[in-house]
Amino acid sequence: MRSLLLPVTAVTAGFVLAACSKDSAPTPKPVAASATASAAAPTAPKRPDLGAFAKLPAAAPSSDAGPAERATLGKLLYFDARLSKNHDVSCNSCHDLAKYGVDGEKTSPGHKKQRGDRNSPTVYNSALHFRQFWDGRAADVEEQATGPVMNPVEMAMPDEKRVVETLASIPEYKELFAKSFPGDKEAITLKNAGRAIGAFERKLLTPSRFDKYLGGDDKALSADEVKGLTTFVSSGCTACHSGALLGGAMYQKLGLVKPWPDAKDQGRASVTKQDSDKLMFKVPSLRNIEKTAPYFHDGSVPTLASAIKLMGQHQLGRELSDADVHGIELFLKTLTGELPKDLIQPPELPKSTAKTPKPDAR
Ligand code: HEC
Ligand code: HEC
Repeated sequence: MRSLLLPVTAVTAGFVLAACSKDSAPTPKPVAASATASAAAPTAPKRPDLGAFAKLPAAAPSSDAGPAERATLGKLLYFDARLSKNHDVSCNSCHDLAKYGVDGEKTSPGHKKQRGDRNSPTVYNSALHFRQFWDGRAADVEEQATGPVMNPVEMAMPDEKRVVETLASIPEYKELFAKSFPGDKEAITLKNAGRAIGAFERKLLTPSRFDKYLGGDDKALSADEVKGLTTFVSSGCTACHSGALLGGAMYQKLGLVKPWPDAKDQGRASVTKQDSDKLMFKVPSLRNIEKTAPYFHDGSVPTLASAIKLMGQHQLGRELSDADVHGIELFLKTLTGELPKDLIQPPELPKSTAKTPKPDAR
């Protein structure tokens, strides 16, 4: 991951400089040279320069790996609504694993149907992002997973004590926590719940046809899809959407070339309090993008075609033709991966006992 970041960031720095100059249509450096669509022969589509991409890795290992039980425990917790105040919201409510890790909502209903301000991103492949959340405020999936449990508009647990009380009242959980964190005197903590959920999320990877193509299988993509890929590269999308995730590796300003009309959400500046971070968001991964509408941090854009067109205008200062937008869309659909069916079957949850705190709707 790290070694990938360096060249990409260097290239982008050059590109951003170009984009800040007076040129209305900056040509991003990384990829344009060998990849103009007109150079491709009509019958056998030429491979564009694929240097900006990488195959999805087979695993998303953690420096904090533990016994195999940890991911088993994490899966149960991921589906368990008893981690919410009213026992009616789980991670899976907003990140439905059967629906590519999203709920299809602009913003998601949480505790008492309250909604936050941001769109729920997918959890698939998320473990491979360089940071978590649209503004990067969590370092990894383990840290991220402790947030929603106590977030008042998400799962709304009043404090860690209630979380621990709930889990400790269920004998199967007691046993699984002890096995998952053998070194810990107090195995049941919110932090360890996050570590377990993270261990499960690290398995949620979705390789797609594009990985086969990157691996050398020319037949994995149709001629039209290759043409769309070529347009994606030559238009400059890869300046930000690159690497194995086509994103997830840097922050960039939304509205880099042409200001974004809605500046209500300050993005990363809400974390760092720096003016220079206003409207900086994590560049999202484009894997499974076909399935994760609506788009952008506020879920304001319902279709993929309009999201592509807006990116051309606001990030690149380019008016993409309808044919180019359609081609890019065809290519992006090749990033729709296979869901790990066995892994995501909803589990049978361990039963509550008389000691389990009751749901609390307040
Ligand atoms: C009520 C809906 C809701 C619930 C419940 C919820 N999330 Fe989220 N999740 C969101 C939203 C909205 C964001 C984006 C928030 C932001 O970036 O500020 C998010 C972000 C994330 C991310 C970051 C993904 C990325 O691309 O950066 C991960 C991972 C994640 N959630 C996992 C979980 C887990 C694990 C749970 C259960 C412990 C959970 N979520 C519960 C709505 C929810
Ligand atoms: C200068 C960097 C940059 C360039 C160039 C760029 N993007 Fe983006 N892209 C971003 C950022 C940042 C976001 C997230 C913005 C937000 O939601 O606040 C984003 C979001 C998206 C989304 C929505 C993702 C989601 O999960 O909601 C799509 C689709 C997308 N880009 C496609 C493209 C395409 C296609 C191109 C080329 C025409 C492109 N982008 C060029 C930075 C860039």
